[in-house]
Amino acid sequence: MRDQFPILQREINGHPLVYFDNAATTQKPSSVINAMNHYYANSNANVHRGVHTLAGEATEGYESCRTSLKKRFNADRAIITSGTTEAINLVAHSWGRANLSDGDAIILTEMEHHSDIVPWQMLAEEMNIELRYVPVQNDFTLDMELFEASMKDVKLVCVVHISNVLGVCNPIEQIISIAKKNGAKVLLDAAQSAPHQLINFKQIGADFMAFSAHKMCGPTGIGALLVSNEAFAEMKPFMGGGDMIETVSIHGSTYQTNEQKFEAGTPRIAEAIGWTEALKWLDTIDLEKEHTRLIESARWLATKLREMGMTVYGRHDEDDAAVVSFLHPTMNSEDLAHLLDARGFAVRTGHHCAQPLLDRLEISGTIRASLYFYNTHEEVVSFIDCLTEILERFS
Ligand SMILES: Cc1ncc(COP(=O)(O)O)c(C=O)c1O
Repeated sequence: MRDQFPILQREINGHPLVYFDNAATTQKPSSVINAMNHYYANSNANVHRGVHTLAGEATEGYESCRTSLKKRFNADRAIITSGTTEAINLVAHSWGRANLSDGDAIILTEMEHHSDIVPWQMLAEEMNIELRYVPVQNDFTLDMELFEASMKDVKLVCVVHISNVLGVCNPIEQIISIAKKNGAKVLLDAAQSAPHQLINFKQIGADFMAFSAHKMCGPTGIGALLVSNEAFAEMKPFMGGGDMIETVSIHGSTYQTNEQKFEAGTPRIAEAIGWTEALKWLDTIDLEKEHTRLIESARWLATKLREMGMTVYGRHDEDDAAVVSFLHPTMNSEDLAHLLDARGFAVRTGHHCAQPLLDRLEISGTIRASLYFYNTHEEVVSFIDCLTEILERFS
């Protein structure tokens, strides 16, 4: 598998690259890079309205991404966006503004990524709506009792499926069932789960699901919002422009009735073609087997880090993602990450765009190692060896 990823042949500072920053973005297989190059070299044109051969090829390439997404995630509607962030903002503008009113409440959790907090704060500044946050408990899980008790006047529940800091997988079936019982819609931030799991969108019963291609071996700049038919009917267009209209006159416009209604302007054609290849690549992976392998490596890593005196955040249960956030008791995280980079290891430090969660944990950042399918247990072992050597020399 590793041979398919050209970047994994790279050396960093004279050492083989060990890429453990997959929760931020994943690497791309040759098939994705080649498909995008091939499109630009052979089929580049604008989509939808052209009758010429290239326009037909570009349209087919772009729309086949939508078809692949609908098939993979069992969804009736897939709006193509620039990523998770834009998908969530689209829900706030297209659904939120049109369907929320004075006194309504939205439930978020303390472990949301900023992209599932700030759009709602901005909307709450505009409209008289209340934001309620489900607390994170000491075992890194959501307080489900408090969640259920906070449902009065709630019209929307926004929840991250898998935390990008803790790797914790939230009980979305239970969350969706409680929300539905109380007549609320559910937005799932699947940025960290869609890359690892096959999610059956219709079966789980969420109304919106947002995710990004670049975290699942696809290109940057593209993502999707899956929408239930019911929620889709309640969405008003947000961005106006070409492609999203049916007719325009000086007296007014009528809009498309399909997903294009929410995709104004020239879309991300090369990126869609690249993402389709990434989805094909993911089809070749035995997700359950690979997940088991990765979570076992993550658990081993967490145990070793604790033995070395680090504080490790997260529980690394069966369904959790292989994300290991940790802190050394005294050593500065950025310094440690620089020393790791000097030896070829790519990890992330900082607040990981989840400041409310870090406030709750009473820390300002962590070092995060996040694994993906091309990582090996040998790399994890060499990471611990390298950290041991660094700590012996510098602490
Ligand atoms: C849980 C979660 N939500 C949302 C995002 C935002 O994704 P993007 O920057 O691709 O829009 C991320 C990215 O790190 C994430 O991990």
